[in-house]
Amino acid sequence: MADQSYDVIIIGSGAAGLTAAINLAQDKKVLVLAKGALDGGSTNWAQGGIAAVLDGGDSFENHVEDTMVAGAGLNDRATVEFVVSEAPVAIERLARLGVPFNADENGGQEFGERWHLTREGGHSHRRIVHVDDATGAAVQRALTAAAQANPNITLVTDMVAIDLITSRHGERFSGDGHVWGVYAFNKRTSHVEALLGRATILATGGAGRTYLFSTAPRGATGDGIAMAWRAGARVSNMEMNQFHPTCLYNLEVKNFLITEAMRGEGGKLKLPPGVPGGGKRFMDRFDKRGELAPRDIVARAIDHEIKRLGLDYVHLDISHKPREFILEHFPTIYARLIDLDIDITKEPIPVVPAQHYTCGGVVIDLDGRTDLPGLYAAGEVTESGLHGANRLASNSLLECLVFGEAAANHIHAHWEELPSPPPIRAWDESRVTDSDEEVIVQHNWKEIRRFMWDYVGIVRSTKRLERAKHRIDLLAQEVDEYYGNFRVTPDLIELRNLLEVSRLIVRSALKRKESRGLHYTIDYPDMLPEAEDTILVP
Ligand code: FAD
Ligand code: SIN
Repeated sequence: MADQSYDVIIIGSGAAGLTAAINLAQDKKVLVLAKGALDGGSTNWAQGGIAAVLDGGDSFENHVEDTMVAGAGLNDRATVEFVVSEAPVAIERLARLGVPFNADENGGQEFGERWHLTREGGHSHRRIVHVDDATGAAVQRALTAAAQANPNITLVTDMVAIDLITSRHGERFSGDGHVWGVYAFNKRTSHVEALLGRATILATGGAGRTYLFSTAPRGATGDGIAMAWRAGARVSNMEMNQFHPTCLYNLEVKNFLITEAMRGEGGKLKLPPGVPGGGKRFMDRFDKRGELAPRDIVARAIDHEIKRLGLDYVHLDISHKPREFILEHFPTIYARLIDLDIDITKEPIPVVPAQHYTCGGVVIDLDGRTDLPGLYAAGEVTESGLHGANRLASNSLLECLVFGEAAANHIHAHWEELPSPPPIRAWDESRVTDSDEEVIVQHNWKEIRRFMWDYVGIVRSTKRLERAKHRIDLLAQEVDEYYGNFRVTPDLIELRNLLEVSRLIVRSALKRKESRGLHYTIDYPDMLPEAEDTILVP
C-alpha cells in the first residue's frame, strides 16, 4: 500500500469539489477523488438551474428574503447575504468556463442581461439561469474539462473514502484533531490507501439514499457527513430533509425528477380522474401561491391528497402550453418520458414527492472551515446556514460554487499555517477476512431506506421516530460487528455511513419540539417563536 502526498485532498468531483480544485490549482497540487465516475454525483443530474440576481427589476434583498422565507427563518442571514451577493459573479465565471446558459432573445449584452431566466417555487422573481432542463450536466462537463486540463489536478475515480485521517492515526498520538487526508478503498486493487494532504476538503454531496424514494444518485449515502462526525466535527439540522414535490411515478424508473421549472412555466398540479375533484387543481386549497409555494408546502399538500384519497400519485400537467414551448423548455424530460409512452405535450405526468436534498450537514463557517483543523467542506455535505429549514430551489449549485471557492481562498491565504502531515499509520488489512454473507449488507441497506421512508418521512410523529431509533440501534450492533470482522467493501462502507446518517437524522428530529420548514411532526404541529439550529456534538 502506498502513501501518497498532495497539497490538498478533495473528496468529491461535483460542483463543490471541482470548483475548489480549479481555484486551488493555480499553485497547489490537488487530488480529487470520486467514488465512481467523475460525473456520478447529483451535480450531473441537476435540472432547473442556478439562482442569481441578474434582472434589473430584481435585487439582492429580494433573493435574501425569498431564501429566508423558504428556510422558515432558520437560515443564518450573514451566510444568505454572502452567498446571494456572490451569485452573479459565480454565474459569470461558469459562463466563461463554457457553460452554455440559455440566451434571452430580448436581452441586452451587459452582465447578466443576456441569459434567459426561469422561475421556480418560492422565488418572487425570475432569476434562474439554466441550460434547457439539464443544467447540471452542462455545469459538470465544463468543470470537469477545466479540471482535466489543469496539470496540478489529479482526478481519481473508483476510490471510496472510508475515514478521515486525523492526528490519532499518526505514528505518535496527538490529540489536536487535525485532519491530514483520508483512507480510501481503491475499487481497482481492492486495497485501502492513505492519501495525505496539508488540507482536506469534503465535497461528498448529500444523503438522499437514506430514503427509499429519492431523486438523488446511488452514491448519495452521506459518506462525508458520517466521516466528519466520526472524526469529531459537529453536524447540524439533520432533520431537515427536503422532499421534492414532483418525482416521476413509475414502477420501473424510480428516481426521475420533473423539474420545478415546469411549474414555474405554468405546469399545474391536478388530482387524477376517478376521484372527487378529479382532473382539477388542488394547490390553491393549501397555499395562495398555488403551485409556486415553497417545496415543503407543495410536497406536504401532495402527500396529504395522496393519503386522503388513497392515490398512488397526482398529476402534473403542462399539456395546455404550445408543443413548441414545451419542447424548447423541457427537451430532456420530453425525451425521457416519450420513452415511457408519456407524451407531455398531450397528457399529464404522474408524480409523487421523493427525498431530494439534505439541508443539514457538517457545520462550516463562511470560509468553508469545519470544527477540525485542516478540514474544510463545501456543497450539499454542509450546513452553512444558507438553507435553514428548507432550501429555496436552485440555491444549491450556487452554494457549491460559492463555498468551493471560499474554502480554496482560505487555504491559499493560510497556507503557511497548515503543517505538513506527520508519519501516518497504514490501514490494517491483515486481520480481516472476506464476508461469507453479503446478503446481510444488501438486506440492511434496504431495511434502513424502507423504515426511514415510513417513519422519518414528510409527516413525522414521536412514536414513529422512536420506532426508527429502535431499528437503528439494533442494526448498529450488526453493522459494527460486520465492519469489525470482515474486509471492507464499497457496499459495507456505504451501509455503515447510511446507518450513521440515519441515526443523526432521527436524533435531530427527536430533538426538535416544533414543526418548522421540512420538519413536520403531528406531536408538535406549531412553530416555536425562536428559530434554533439542531446542533449535534460528537
Ligand atoms: P455531488 O455533485 O453530489 O458530488 C458528490 C461527489 O462526492 C461525487 O463525485 C461522489 O463520487 C463523491 N463522493 C461521495 N462519497 C464519496 C466517498 N466516500 N469517497 C469518494 N468520493 C465520494 N440544485 C440546484 O441548485 N439546481 C437544480 O436545478 C438542481 N436540480 C437537482 C436535480 C436532481 C435530480 C438532484 C438529485 C439534485 C438537484 N439539485 C439542484 C441539487 C444539486 O444538484 C446538489 O445539491 C449539488 O449538485 C451537490 O453538489 P456537490 O458538489 O455537493 O455533490
Ligand atoms: C428542479 O429542477 O426542480 C430542482 C431544482 C433544485 O433542486 O434546486
